[in-house]
Amino acid sequence: MFLGLDLGTSGVKALLVDGEGRAIGSADASYDVSNPAQGWSEQDPADWTAGVSAALSELKSAHPDAFGAVQGLALSGHMHGAVLVDTAGDVLRPCILWNDTRSFEQAADIDSNPQARTISGNIVFPGFTAPKLAWVAAHEPDVFAKVARVMLPKDYVVWWLTGRYVTEMSDAAGTAWLDVGARGWSEDMIALGGMRRDQMPDLLEGSDVVGEVQSARADLGLPKTCKVIAGGADNAVAACGVGALGEGQGFVSLGTSGVVLAGRDTYAPLPASAVHTFCHAVPARWYQIGVVLAATDSLNWLSRVTGQSAQALSEGAGDVLLAPGAVKFYPYLSGERTPHNDAHVRGGLTGLDVATGPADLTQAVMAGVTFALRDSFEALKATGANLPSALAIGGGSRSDLWCSMLATTLNIPLERPQEGAFGAALGAARLAMCGITGADPDQIMTKPPIADVVSPNLDLIAAYDDAYRAFAAAYPTLKAMP
Ligand code: XUL
Repeated sequence: MFLGLDLGTSGVKALLVDGEGRAIGSADASYDVSNPAQGWSEQDPADWTAGVSAALSELKSAHPDAFGAVQGLALSGHMHGAVLVDTAGDVLRPCILWNDTRSFEQAADIDSNPQARTISGNIVFPGFTAPKLAWVAAHEPDVFAKVARVMLPKDYVVWWLTGRYVTEMSDAAGTAWLDVGARGWSEDMIALGGMRRDQMPDLLEGSDVVGEVQSARADLGLPKTCKVIAGGADNAVAACGVGALGEGQGFVSLGTSGVVLAGRDTYAPLPASAVHTFCHAVPARWYQIGVVLAATDSLNWLSRVTGQSAQALSEGAGDVLLAPGAVKFYPYLSGERTPHNDAHVRGGLTGLDVATGPADLTQAVMAGVTFALRDSFEALKATGANLPSALAIGGGSRSDLWCSMLATTLNIPLERPQEGAFGAALGAARLAMCGITGADPDQIMTKPPIADVVSPNLDLIAAYDDAYRAFAAAYPTLKAMP
């Protein structure tokens, strides 16, 4: 038996699987994000460990025999967060999360050094860990002076479980302190961010064994022989859960934000297009993502302004793909990540007519998000990534219309997994399985069973291609808006 824990921003999910990777049971626990100032986003690491304890306790009660046979567990975690601890291991301040933008000046400062993108393979975004520490140095010098170690969110839970300060390549890649191509800490980047090498945790690969669960955590009821495996960053581990490891394998996720992910056998960064290039959670592999900040969040916005639920809007838009409509939507409700790296641009809605109704608006929102995902897809292609097909995951992928629009606009077939266990919790359990058994990740991290394949609509490919080009051409106008 193996356990995968998906430490998310709003809660933790624990999944128990057998040796074949079949789900035995799962349990969830939620926690809050606090926003003490505009652009700030923080969490108390104690809430994560309380959530993990609660989820494990529920699983143990529901499946005592299987729980008692757990050989290994691993975590997937939200990236980039900075957990700061002193020499005694005590947490110095709340964790500054991935979606906290307070360190924009420090990020721009580090990013302006030509070495930064060359070594880290990425733009230094305000959400990354290095600028957060530079912000703490500037605004909370007393805290900064006491920082003995920096940990990423899931690594704090690993430390709590095992007593070891470690991280692994996929999460370390999002700090801006890692040489992402060489898979090692960069002394230059650490110094550039005003940090010291001894403040960095030891680096492992995601399927490496960290150690046994320490006796101080005996109350969790895990078997004494249960080992903790290093785990990985959320997108990397989700890719492990759907079998997206190397060339030609990837997914499009229509969640709150939208992600196009491509597995890579080589390191091929392209920071200028705001693509993220990170180490994969399995050895000798990387992955690249393009991020659309408001995907289903755009539909949620329309739901708030129309007073209709997102599901009702989606149903009202129908199932059948028609040619692109006259109403155009630009989904930059919170700025955009890929390919623009623009926190200031805002969205738009054009082509409105007295006859425009909710179905037209819903189709326009779905199309705008789809075109933004095509922007990310093009940015990934420019790195050399090739996705002849992709899995479609996330809440929005349940819409036949949206998937058909996406398949037609990207001009690739989209495979929708059957309901059931996949994603980051399964990916984490699979990393645990590889760590304990030494199995080859390519054998373990296979595709989930596919429910259906949504093919491009051949009659509409040209029309959606034209509409995408018009969408891409409109960005400078939106950017210039006061
Ligand atoms: C990637 C990123 C997300 C977060 C939240 O850069 O910010 O993957 O970890 O899910």
